[in-house]
Amino acid sequence: MCKNSYVKTTELQQQISRYIDRQLEGLDLPGQPASLYDPVRYTLSRGGKRIRPYFTLAGCGLCGGEMEKALPAALAIELLHNFTLLHDDIMDRAETRRGQESVHVKWDDSTAILSGDAMYAWAFRQLQRFADDPGVSRACYARIMDIFMECVVRVCEGQAFDLEFERREQVSMEEYMTMIGGKTAALICASLQMGGVVAGAGRRDVEVLADLGEEIGLAFQIQDDLLDSVADPEKFGKKQGGDIAESKKTYLSILSLQRSTDDQKHRLDRVFTREAVSSGEIDMVIDLYHELDVIDDTRAEVKRRYTRALDILDHFEDSKYREDISLLIRNLNQREF
Ligand code: IPE
Ligand code: IPE
Ligand code: MG
Ligand code: MG
Ligand code: MG
Repeated sequence: MCKNSYVKTTELQQQISRYIDRQLEGLDLPGQPASLYDPVRYTLSRGGKRIRPYFTLAGCGLCGGEMEKALPAALAIELLHNFTLLHDDIMDRAETRRGQESVHVKWDDSTAILSGDAMYAWAFRQLQRFADDPGVSRACYARIMDIFMECVVRVCEGQAFDLEFERREQVSMEEYMTMIGGKTAALICASLQMGGVVAGAGRRDVEVLADLGEEIGLAFQIQDDLLDSVADPEKFGKKQGGDIAESKKTYLSILSLQRSTDDQKHRLDRVFTREAVSSGEIDMVIDLYHELDVIDDTRAEVKRRYTRALDILDHFEDSKYREDISLLIRNLNQREF
């Protein structure tokens, strides 16, 4: 698939992405048990945009730190992210990921659960490197662990809401925002915050990094919801309409239910409450999203949030990192996968 070509990338983004790929390849995973580590290797070698480790390293640079110093945190966050994907694909019954079979399809559920758990443990192993580094203070290590664990808790809470909402008829936009704040924004927040902490950033700067991550994360997930309905599945690497088939509460489904007439609402509810949904029904829902201006308005909301993120970024002094992060945010707004 078109790895790292979600639109334009800068030299620094390409460098970081290659660096992270190499570092993940060099993790020295054992050969045995193959049923545990083969799926880990399969997952880590399949690319992905690597935006979270980018945010850790560039966030460190943004706060005046040496990027390499934040590498263990960058690897930990990418491992954690990949672990969440393996479990998420079981929960969402998703058959494809990054244009290939999901781990639970290629192997089975138990394998995907265990391989995910192994990546979670390897993430902590990376963070442990800070404890062994004389250049990293105990206070800094403790703060990084706090941020990381807080993030894991928020992701679990978000994912639990995501599943609860599948079976709930009414979900408000506010509840949806809390859910995606947990399942998606928390990781992006933590990525940036850990970079800042390694750089020795002050409390205020770390708070601003959290606000920045929150805004990017919310935009990123609303956009993921949008792409789930409108992206070219070849590029997106996931099945079109997967959220509709799984009765997910998304930015689009909530907005469409708010705007629909009784008849339209009846048609939507029939699809959203059904176990097995046909491709014709998925098309019908996507057509309704267009008719109700939900697609255009979702796109506008994504843009509004990325623009707000750019405003937050202005808190930091001008530097090549600030310029690069700003370019990434602008490019994310155009992403197709
Ligand atoms: C997928 O994240 C999970 C969401 C939060 C929507 P990415 O779109 O960053 O996944 P990869 O790592 O690039 O495949
Ligand atoms: C993303 O939720 C959050 C996590 C994976 C933790 P989604 O379920 O929307 O992500 P995709 O669409 O499967 O990548
Ligand atoms: Mg999913
Ligand atoms: Mg999910
Ligand atoms: Mg999704």
